[in-house]
Amino acid sequence: MLKYVFPGRIIFGGIVLHEDLSQILAPYKGKKGSAITALQKVQDKLGYLPEEAITEIANFLSMSQNELYGVVTFYSQFRFTKRGEHNIQVCSGTACHVRGSPNIVEALEEELCINCGETTKDGKFSLEKIACFGACALAPVMVVDKNIHGRVTPVSARQIVNKI
Ligand code: FES
Repeated sequence: MLKYVFPGRIIFGGIVLHEDLSQILAPYKGKKGSAITALQKVQDKLGYLPEEAITEIANFLSMSQNELYGVVTFYSQFRFTKRGEHNIQVCSGTACHVRGSPNIVEALEEELCINCGETTKDGKFSLEKIACFGACALAPVMVVDKNIHGRVTPVSARQIVNKI
């Protein structure tokens, strides 16, 4: 996916990283306080935040990469890896947690042979935890490609994934 064309010019998923990000980031040049917005815009464009993009953003905002990584790791909305073709989200809010969502995550990690927060090697599935989805009456909740599944068990979670 990532391809160096010549130093300083990187083609990434069909976009020229520096040139395209320069356009996206232009309104935020030198504005550290716009870090979250800048990160969101870039993640919307690329689907996640690769190391090369973090470097670009840090340079634009006049921040150190360490400072910017601190922001990225603080907010769960930001991802360092590309999502799979199918995105599986398991709610980790209080109601879902109490009703067994950690067991669902564990079953899916085993089924997909990945850890939560990762994408399968074939790029088909990614697994992540989300904060309360607002459907607590259905706890525990699992969301697959925006389809909500309620009262999920470890067994039914595996079945849902295997039907895809
Ligand atoms: S806690 Fe899971 S939907 Fe609210």
